[in-house]
Amino acid sequence: MGTMKTLFLLTLTSTFFFSTFSQEASVFSRQANLETYIVFVEKPENLLESNLHDWYTTFLPETTSSLSSNQPRIVHSYRNVITGFAARLTPQEAKAMEQKEGFIAARVQRSFSLHTTLTPKFLGLPRRPTKLGAWNASNYGEGVIIGMIDSGIKYDHASFSDKDMPPPPSKWRGRCDFNGKQTCNNKLVGARSFVSTARGTDLPWEESYHGSHTSGIAAGCPVDGANVFGQANGTAMGIAPRAHLAMYKACGDFCDEGDALAAIDAAIDDGVDVLSISLGPPHPFPFYNDGVALGTFRAIQKGIFVS
Ligand SMILES: *[C@@H]1O[C@H](CO)[C@@H](O)[C@H](O)[C@H]1NC(C)=O
Ligand SMILES: *[C@@H]1O[C@H](CO)[C@@H](O)[C@H](O)[C@H]1NC(C)=O
Repeated sequence: MGTMKTLFLLTLTSTFFFSTFSQEASVFSRQANLETYIVFVEKPENLLESNLHDWYTTFLPETTSSLSSNQPRIVHSYRNVITGFAARLTPQEAKAMEQKEGFIAARVQRSFSLHTTLTPKFLGLPRRPTKLGAWNASNYGEGVIIGMIDSGIKYDHASFSDKDMPPPPSKWRGRCDFNGKQTCNNKLVGARSFVSTARGTDLPWEESYHGSHTSGIAAGCPVDGANVFGQANGTAMGIAPRAHLAMYKACGDFCDEGDALAAIDAAIDDGVDVLSISLGPPHPFPFYNDGVALGTFRAIQKGIFVS
């Protein structure tokens, strides 16, 4: 954690320092109160690292004592990230340091926001307020049926709950083949298996967890309190959380082309609006010699969006 933070600061410092320093120079004339400055200095060759902090203090202005604040002026003494320190100064004091031997630059410290790899945020899809942007305009995928060609699905996972989900559109002709068990709902509206060899189950149940993963990304409903051992706690949600899902199992650990084509065939019959396919050969074949490319071309001709 410490290393990451250090690296982060170092990267930002080196990227932004030179481009924005002049713009922030005007801050000197405006601000009267103490602010925390990052002060960059050049270390004399013979200075021992153990004496760095004491040497940093020599940059502090003599006016220091005339101010009522009892707090120490140096906030941090750096040894590795930069040669320099962070100190609480007035603009006049920071300006006065420019005269000192070894001074390079000083500027008011910046404030950073926390960054997180959330695809919806990256795409500009705000969850709240809910009435803005592409998510609202598309109604979170409501009324859309996404056919997944994958390795099956854990139908009882929290992401596939149908809380607040309307029934699928009346054009839907799919079905749920879990040995007669009532496992489908208004979120997971279909589940069938096309695995034709003995290596896998003939139920659309998930064994490798790939299909549940891709299904959750496509259309998982909001699940609050999702975390890994308490880390990254937050709301897990698919990109189209109001869309319906239909699993067409064509894979165990591998996917046979014939099974994948049968799955796509059935999905077209059943009336999916979108086909989501996350599988492929180790190297690309020409389209005319690639069953999945041919099959999905037919799907596109029938108005199905293929992802
Ligand atoms: C949100 O979506 C609804 C329904 O499509 C639409 O009537 C409304 O204008 C949208 N709001 C905004 C701010 O785009
Ligand atoms: C995750 O966040 C929720 C909502 O803030 C909270 O109720 C829950 O206790 C948190 N869980 C963990 C493991 O931190």
